[in-house]
Amino acid sequence: MTPDTRQTPKRILVTGPTGFIGKRLLYKLDEKGYQVRCLVRPPESLVLEIPLTHEPEIVYGDLLDPDSLNAALVGMDTAYYLVHSMGGRSIRQTLAFEEKDRRAAENFLRAADSNGLKRIIYLGGLGDISDNLSHHLASRQEIGRILQSGKVQTTILRAAVIVGAGGAAFEIVRYLVERLPILMCPKWVYTQSQPIAIDNVLSYLAGCLETPETAGRSFDIGGPQIVSYADLMRMYARVRGLKRYIVGMPMVPFKLSAYWVNLITPVPAGVVLPLAEGLRNEAVCRENDIRKMLPVQLLSMEQAICNALAEESEGPGKLLSQQACFLPEDLQ
Ligand SMILES: NC(=O)c1ccc[n+]([C@@H]2O[C@H](COP(=O)([O-])OP(=O)(O)OC[C@H]3O[C@@H](n4cnc5c(N)ncnc54)[C@H](OP(=O)(O)O)[C@@H]3O)[C@@H](O)[C@H]2O)c1
Repeated sequence: MTPDTRQTPKRILVTGPTGFIGKRLLYKLDEKGYQVRCLVRPPESLVLEIPLTHEPEIVYGDLLDPDSLNAALVGMDTAYYLVHSMGGRSIRQTLAFEEKDRRAAENFLRAADSNGLKRIIYLGGLGDISDNLSHHLASRQEIGRILQSGKVQTTILRAAVIVGAGGAAFEIVRYLVERLPILMCPKWVYTQSQPIAIDNVLSYLAGCLETPETAGRSFDIGGPQIVSYADLMRMYARVRGLKRYIVGMPMVPFKLSAYWVNLITPVPAGVVLPLAEGLRNEAVCRENDIRKMLPVQLLSMEQAICNALAEESEGPGKLLSQQACFLPEDLQ
């Protein structure tokens, strides 16, 4: 398919193309006929399991190295900002993520402004500033404010947990439920949130590119159900036909939980901690304006889980195909 170039920008930079969201976005944009430029740190880190029809241009860039950004931004109309700095095997390694993310966004905005970039599309997090936000969620909001403070028109999409194979929050659910028949959970797993399927997120990300009215605006995006993390674990168990018991526990320190989750799952403690702290904050859409501008068929969480399982190539349950799911008929 060839995009309608009269209406849509055609010079697109994707930051974070090696990540969970970024890599899938490459395929989505490719399917729509766009050829993109990818900003990567080590160029060899971008491994595309299935080649794209429109060969992407690969440019080295590190958002913490301002001098590297001009080469990536020159000649671009629109950039996707799909980067964060959480990570590291230990909690100590992740502590500086807020400061790094702030610097990364400021560097990027400066380079974007000086290269005449027209639009940024940023995927951030849901949560109300008045809710004593966790470091991670507060940082995601701060990045949105920074990216909207320049000459470039920045669209912010705010999402809670994104359900898809390889997404850190979803992988935590998957490994915990696959491996533990009894899940001892702290009370923050009962906080309300509005997770969304990765397919729907990709439709919104690509849709914003083709909808100029979304420029400069912020939108909450969520799936059709308001559920807790505990509900998500129950849904996962149901979809997989597993009998699981969730037992509430009194207050458990976040750090202890992060190390414990790191023992059971491959997700590093440096990622688990900021995500776990974020579970104490409600992450529910406060407005649904995007639905009027970009009508997208929202997938149920059960369907999203099933799609993710179908995509996993290996894992604790060796979930290779859609047959691994017990999706109730009414949800198929
Ligand atoms: N996953 C979710 O459930 C979820 C939910 C809501 C919002 N989001 C948002 O979606 C966005 C993408 O998240 P994700 O889950 O795709 O994350 P991810 O899989 O961890 O990917 C992060 C990406 O950022 C890149 N990156 C980090 N620091 C960089 C730097 N200094 N310079 C250049 N690139 C850098 C990484 O590149 P390397 O390969 O070089 O490390 C990687 O490509 C984030 O803004 C996140 O807040 C995600």
